[in-house]
Amino acid sequence: IPTLDDISFSGNKLLVRIDINSPVDPKTGKLIDDSRIKAYNETIKELVNKGNSLVLISHQGRPGDSDFISLEEHAELLSKYLDMNVEFVEDVMGPYARERIKNMKSGEVILLDNVRFVSEELIEAPPTQHAKSYLVKRLSPLFDGYVNDAFATAHRSQASIVGFPMVLKSTAGRVMEKEVSALAKIFNADEFPKVFVLGGGKVLDSIRIIENLVKRRLADRILTGGLIAELFAVAKGLDLGKENMQILEKKGLISLIPRARKILLSGGPIEIPVDFKVEKEEGKVAEEPSNKVTGVIKDIGSTTVGIYSSFIKDAKVIVMRGPMGVIEDERFREGSKKLLDSALESQGYLIIGGGHMISMLGGSSEINPSKVHVSTGGGALLLFLAGERLPALEALDLSYKEVVK
Ligand code: 3PG
Repeated sequence: IPTLDDISFSGNKLLVRIDINSPVDPKTGKLIDDSRIKAYNETIKELVNKGNSLVLISHQGRPGDSDFISLEEHAELLSKYLDMNVEFVEDVMGPYARERIKNMKSGEVILLDNVRFVSEELIEAPPTQHAKSYLVKRLSPLFDGYVNDAFATAHRSQASIVGFPMVLKSTAGRVMEKEVSALAKIFNADEFPKVFVLGGGKVLDSIRIIENLVKRRLADRILTGGLIAELFAVAKGLDLGKENMQILEKKGLISLIPRARKILLSGGPIEIPVDFKVEKEEGKVAEEPSNKVTGVIKDIGSTTVGIYSSFIKDAKVIVMRGPMGVIEDERFREGSKKLLDSALESQGYLIIGGGHMISMLGGSSEINPSKVHVSTGGGALLLFLAGERLPALEALDLSYKEVVK
């Protein structure tokens, strides 16, 4: 992919796609983790120091979810960590935003509001189609170039990711560049066993990731938690009780059971929890074996933690993404926390991604950068490791071949 060493922007007005999509506390609407907000300092400072003015653009959550919020707090945090003013513009492509962009002075940095407030952004379509979107048509004439530093959204073929490279001189930022080169190096090393610990709520992504890992035989073991574990448990024929089945149904996950079953039948090295921590009537918490679940599943149980930890300790490469339980609730953090501790204690190399798991690192001082890669990516990280071609990278390559020349 083209980098800032291949295309050196100076004195230009640039649109910079970052991914500061962060976990949000559903009760307060405040951000729980700011690691993605801190991640872009190098790219932003380098571009500002070269006299460019920058318009930062990012998404946050998805319509209908509690983390679908405006980017005002993000702008405050960006200003704080960059130690410079990042002005928040409460608009994406309307007249207010366009006027403000036109009047920018050299060295100024602004952050537009959540790009997913524009419905087009939610469509996954090829770059040529997105090049004709209103978002791209309205914003691109205001810029000299486009920098994509949003590695974490590289798996989405959305307008702000693949549309702009078709019409603007475009390159990857430093975060994108470093993630791609570091991950390729660590992951391709001839080190076995490779253990994946996959949890969290993005089940459709996880299924896609697991299908790729299994097809290419990249994982020696896949330890599941969260909703993805429930899905595989049901696919194996376990009865998780009415309430848990209703949750899977409400989230539209029942239709994924045949895909999970196919993965199991094709010999995928999938491990499912042997016990769960559940919440029962009146908020009572109990541990129950997976074949005798009566409460609502909220975490993996302690026997499972022990078994999973032993696999993690023997691994040479550990990839973790997505929590094992509902970590927002103190009572259900333990599974994820203990597996993370085992991974940090292990001799293996740890690659960790996804805002929720990273928030559990809590800025831990024990992290040894030569043993741990904290990725800005979640789904994108896993799909990249699983060998999928990421639309963002393809669009940058295409742009370099066809738009720059
Ligand atoms: C992520 O957190 O994985 C990225 O920000 C992409 O978000 P999305 O899954 O809502 O597209």
